[in-house]
Amino acid sequence: MAQLNVLIAPDPRLKIVAKPVSSVDDSVRKIMDDMLETMYAEDGAGLAATQVGIDKRIIVMDVVWDEGSKRAPFKMANPEILWCSEETSIHNEGCLSVPGQRGEVERPSKIKVRYLDEKNTLIERDADGMLAVCIQHEIDHLNGKLYIDYFSPLKQQIILRKLKKYKSYA
Ligand code: NI
Repeated sequence: MAQLNVLIAPDPRLKIVAKPVSSVDDSVRKIMDDMLETMYAEDGAGLAATQVGIDKRIIVMDVVWDEGSKRAPFKMANPEILWCSEETSIHNEGCLSVPGQRGEVERPSKIKVRYLDEKNTLIERDADGMLAVCIQHEIDHLNGKLYIDYFSPLKQQIILRKLKKYKSYA
């Protein structure tokens, strides 16, 4: 396994719409494992391939993991939202590509998602709570969208300016 370099906004590669994988083979499984290692190392709850400069529809998540607790990773290829609830909820989101910043985003509370798991099995499952938030946030990445894109241009400018400062101190 290898740790990957996470792209930071406003990197233009974060705007690329990722391509579907034809099947989950050893090379895709390796990407999933490297992405998970990177996500855990950077204390993230989710990571999309777009964020590490890989043009494939792959996301990984772990919404229960914390230092000392058992890991419960999700690995998904070609994730697709089949249904979402009219009911919405607001969460304070963060993103490894927008380090040090957080912001409230309103999204559907419940979703049904279809994806290929690491064994190339087609899975359909319902998700709510943090998992639903995370899946929607990561699928947005695969479509070239960041959570700050939901904010007003002014608020985005303020965040990007803070990021620039953050980067120069890093
Ligand atoms: Ni993110």
